[in-house]
Amino acid sequence: MSETIRVLLSEEEVDQRISEVAAKVSKDYEGRQVHLISVLKGGVFFTCELAKRLTIPVSMDFMYVSSYGMSTKSSGVVKIVKDLDEEIEGRDVLVVEDIIDSGRTLNYLLEYLQNKNPKSLRLCTLLDKPERRAVEVHVDYTCFQIPDEFIVGYGLDYAQKYRNLPYIGVVELN
Ligand code: IMP
Ligand code: MG
Repeated sequence: MSETIRVLLSEEEVDQRISEVAAKVSKDYEGRQVHLISVLKGGVFFTCELAKRLTIPVSMDFMYVSSYGMSTKSSGVVKIVKDLDEEIEGRDVLVVEDIIDSGRTLNYLLEYLQNKNPKSLRLCTLLDKPERRAVEVHVDYTCFQIPDEFIVGYGLDYAQKYRNLPYIGVVELN
């Protein structure tokens, strides 16, 4: 089986929207430092683009969480592959993720981080597929809500390919 990629959101559309969300985040956190926690691997492209546009002081850390299995469906079992380098107690934490699908990964991660007593904890996602939600997750900042299709590009992969695409595309299996 081979696949083709149909453009859903162009590079210009994505970059424009990230600038808007970054302006909102900068305003909301005015006078504070925001500690970004980027969720590897997919969230890293978005995190960089967001961080470059923030006008408040920023620090960053990275976590790598993986749901078991290689399928296009999230299994709901979350494993921490790489944990935080720095303590987050008392800090204003903003988790930056590529996509919220079933919500299982972020539901788990937010609870994990909340237990470390940050001063505040919010979630910012590039993409959200609300139709697919299996567990509730409060999303504070969303760039785009998208339909239930399998997405690649801007950090998102299909079997580890296409993360490097500068736009957001839909995988079409032929
Ligand atoms: P959730 O736990 O079901 O919300 O899934 C979250 C993770 O599944 C994301 O961080 C992605 O790594 C992956 N994922 C979900 N939907 C897609 C998609 O459309 N394309 C690529 N990866 C996806
Ligand atoms: Mg992810």
